[in-house]
Amino acid sequence: MIYLDAAATTPVKREVLDLVWPLMARDFGNPSSHHGPGETAARALDYARTTAASTLRVRTGDIVFTSGGTEANNLAIIGLALANPRGRHLVRSAVEHSSVREACDYLVRQHGFTVDVAPVDRSGRVDPDALAALLRPDTTLVSVMAVNNEVGTIQPVAAVAAAARAVGALVHTDAVQAAGWLDAAELASHVDALSISGHKLGGMKGAGLAMIRGRLRLEPLLHGGGQERGRRSGTENVAGAVSTATALRLAAAGSQHFDEARRRAAYLIDTVLSGLEGTAGQGTTAALLTGDPVHRVPGIVSFAFPGTHGEAVLLELERRGIVCSSGSACAAGSTDPSPVLLAMGYEPDVALTAVRLSFTPEATEVQLTTAARAVVAAVQSVATGVRSA
Ligand SMILES: Cc1ncc(COP(=O)(O)O)c(C=O)c1O
Repeated sequence: MIYLDAAATTPVKREVLDLVWPLMARDFGNPSSHHGPGETAARALDYARTTAASTLRVRTGDIVFTSGGTEANNLAIIGLALANPRGRHLVRSAVEHSSVREACDYLVRQHGFTVDVAPVDRSGRVDPDALAALLRPDTTLVSVMAVNNEVGTIQPVAAVAAAARAVGALVHTDAVQAAGWLDAAELASHVDALSISGHKLGGMKGAGLAMIRGRLRLEPLLHGGGQERGRRSGTENVAGAVSTATALRLAAAGSQHFDEARRRAAYLIDTVLSGLEGTAGQGTTAALLTGDPVHRVPGIVSFAFPGTHGEAVLLELERRGIVCSSGSACAAGSTDPSPVLLAMGYEPDVALTAVRLSFTPEATEVQLTTAARAVVAAVQSVATGVRSA
């Protein structure tokens, strides 16, 4: 089996496992307890915080360990928006993850906020000028993801942040899909808050972190014992925190393989596009690469195959030993077209044919070339079935 669904989740890295299992089985103390096992756990948590902070080049007081990317996004958006009553206006991009979209909608529903949605172009990129035109003196927060999880487009976070800063708004970026490929410290330098999910980087599921500048007021989502400097109550998931911080540190090193991975991704893209060239002439299928041709991370490659059905291609691919998905794992099983592809201007029937291949920098050349050939064969097989049906 060739697993090409890394944007959904990744296996835990060996180095991460080696660090976390003793924290669950041997050094399992509660970091708030004043005895030996508790102090050992507290030291492990300190190690996690220092590692994450130094990787992101922020202060240790800026790190809040969470249950993952979803909670990090909710905490940053809801927590900052409620605690900074500059106004009740938010701006987000049209291609945000559901955890950003829904957090904004919650503020609209329950707290009287309004949200403006910055459009994206056909490649899924936000135009910073179009976004700037939505900003108002009462804009509290702008949230634009660093890398889109469905098509891999890299957003101009620095330019968006500069525009937001110019009106005094806070800036958050969802860096869940960016951390394995881009310089997360550079991204963090532009923003007030940034979200990371451990399991996308070789860490454990159910663990992540929010970088939220410690000087900013933040309304916690979880109330209780005052852990995480009162920003996130609840006994800390020490193993999860260590796993996230370690995975983030290792991912930062992995991003050095960007160019090599880009070369492999380019081969994958060329093989699929050229392998299916001409098939559209017979009235059925050709491959469209979705996302930005230049501003994209190597590890997320998404196609649409007009004339087929994405789910049918996925089944055919799995039969051939390639495991991937149609897009966001959270929307898996949904029969609705992806809101991301719709926002990019794709027709619903084309959006329903999306297939996403996603991989880590560790993916080998053989895996990707095998997958490329399998995609061509699978699409041809589904298209033939559609034609003869
Ligand atoms: C861009 C993006 N943001 C947030 C999340 C949510 O992260 P988690 O699964 O850790 O809650 C995901 C996961 O699919 C994602 O791709």
